Amino acid sequence: MKIALSVGGSILDDIDYIRKLASVLKKISRKNKLYIVTGGGKTARKYIDICRSFGANESFLDDVGIDATRLNARLLIAAIGNAYPKPATNFDEAIIGGKNFPVVVMGGTHPGHTTDAVTAMLAERVKADKLIIATNVDYVYTADPKKYRNAKVLKKLTADELIKIASRIGGEAGSKSVVDLLAARIIARSKIKTFVINGKNLSSLKNLVEGKKFVGSVIV
Ligand code: UTP
Repeated sequence: MKIALSVGGSILDDIDYIRKLASVLKKISRKNKLYIVTGGGKTARKYIDICRSFGANESFLDDVGIDATRLNARLLIAAIGNAYPKPATNFDEAIIGGKNFPVVVMGGTHPGHTTDAVTAMLAERVKADKLIIATNVDYVYTADPKKYRNAKVLKKLTADELIKIASRIGGEAGSKSVVDLLAARIIARSKIKTFVINGKNLSSLKNLVEGKKFVGSVIV
């Protein structure tokens, strides 16, 4: 099976967790081809904020963010061991890397979107059987659960519902949708079987890959 996996930068913040994640991914890669995209997390935010204070423009700041996502990709490559040895910088390179290695890891590609969108595009390019978005919340919610207590869990939703949520939440200052709007649109057009799980829940990740019961949302 081909699996595209987005690992949110916010969960790549703890060495012990990265080690455990890498060991689970290595096991998964014995039976599956893994295409992983890492987010930029705290490192991206830190460097973007500093460069912004120097007056850098937004697309420059996006490139700073992309550099951080690639640094996190290197971190995961080092931890996994049997992956393509460098962060793929575009989809063609990821496809070529995937011919020779069981795991390919990449970060961002171009200014203007996030690694969610990169993972959805990569899933489309490699014709992934599953797109898994490993983030820091357990499910897709109707609103940002970190800001709104009455946000409702959506265990099953359509790609069109995901687009609506991403456009609504993306427009509120400081709120974060679990998936960005471009990613939601690509998921809708490609009809990729997509799952959103909490990346810290490694047994859920294993179960999902093995087709067993898992904690998370399915986009149908
Ligand atoms: P992330 O994908 O990590 O963004 O990329 P995010 O969603 O804000 O963060 P987390 O990881 O889910 O918490 C970090 C930044 O890098 C730039 C964007 O500025 C993004 O906010 N980026 C990333 C791009 O411009 N293009 C890309 O392809 C990827």
